[in-house]
Amino acid sequence: MDTAGQLSELTEQFDREAAEISDRPSWEALRLRWVGKKQGLLRSLMGRMKDIPPEDRRAYGQGVNLLKQGVETRLQELDSSLHLREQKEVKSLATDVTLPGRPPKIGSLHPITVIRREIEDIFTELGYSVAEGPEVEDDYHNFEALNFPPNHPARDTQDTLFVKNGKVLRTHTSPVQIRTMLSRKPPIRVICPGRVFRNDNDLRHSPMFHQVEGLAVAEGLTVGDLKGTLESFVKRLFTADTGVRLRPSFFPFTEPSAEVDITCPFCSGTGRDCKVCSSTGWMEILGSGMVDPRVLSGCGIDPERYSGFAFGLGIDRVAMIRFGIPNIRMLFENDLRVLGQIRA
Ligand code: DAH
Repeated sequence: MDTAGQLSELTEQFDREAAEISDRPSWEALRLRWVGKKQGLLRSLMGRMKDIPPEDRRAYGQGVNLLKQGVETRLQELDSSLHLREQKEVKSLATDVTLPGRPPKIGSLHPITVIRREIEDIFTELGYSVAEGPEVEDDYHNFEALNFPPNHPARDTQDTLFVKNGKVLRTHTSPVQIRTMLSRKPPIRVICPGRVFRNDNDLRHSPMFHQVEGLAVAEGLTVGDLKGTLESFVKRLFTADTGVRLRPSFFPFTEPSAEVDITCPFCSGTGRDCKVCSSTGWMEILGSGMVDPRVLSGCGIDPERYSGFAFGLGIDRVAMIRFGIPNIRMLFENDLRVLGQIRA
């Protein structure tokens, strides 16, 4: 084939290759193959000039130049259409800053936290301070010092969860009473909120729940002080017309002991058609009593001089009553659709 024929065949070859170009990498490869500074085909065509007979050189040079111009123009066209497409892609990926923003979701306090803080606020105003104790407790603080002797049947009421080395997960917040009396001198007024644990699990019971313990020790405290304190407390926690009644009961660490009922805040104590209190008009919310003299003297407090009262309250139960939560598990499944409906 003569050189002119060769050149026109190369032109066709380039056109075929150019028609295949669909993206930046294939364009770049085409450019290098044809007009690359080192190995480009056109450069080697120029290099062949010395092998061409002198009389044909002019025509050959013109032919190669023509081919080169064609190649360069086509490469430029391809480059700008690729560039256009690339710009469109960038635009479609970019953020539209004129769109309205997504409003941040406002969090809410957990119902247990709401109630615990309310209880802390009420008792702080009554002159109480807040004390804490460990959740993994020893037998002495959880039972023995609270007048549960070893093998005493009252231990069975606690559904204790045992840990290694004779420790237990505290079954109530009452051990913080003991820790407080061992470390402070009367007059004492503390509340002790915290988690407690029992091997118990149904609609109303969860193996982990929350209590607040209250303790007052001073000279001359009576059941009247206990009842007055609890009355002003429940009137603040529920409604101003909430009433209180003490029912005789038994706890090893108090004597006498009482369970405390309040008038049902849903039917104002009338009991009329009330599902919440099963039409009794009353709800049990606390255990309480006068601190047993044995417990006082075990903590180095003279029961001849001092007396005290104590009470224990389930925070979860109060939260369920206050927010109308039917199942204790709803408090701990942490479903934000449920918890988000409750606002302080
Ligand atoms: N610790 C008791 C319980 O968990 C509740 C209790 C009852 C606490 C009477 C007290 C009290 O301080 O006086 O069942």
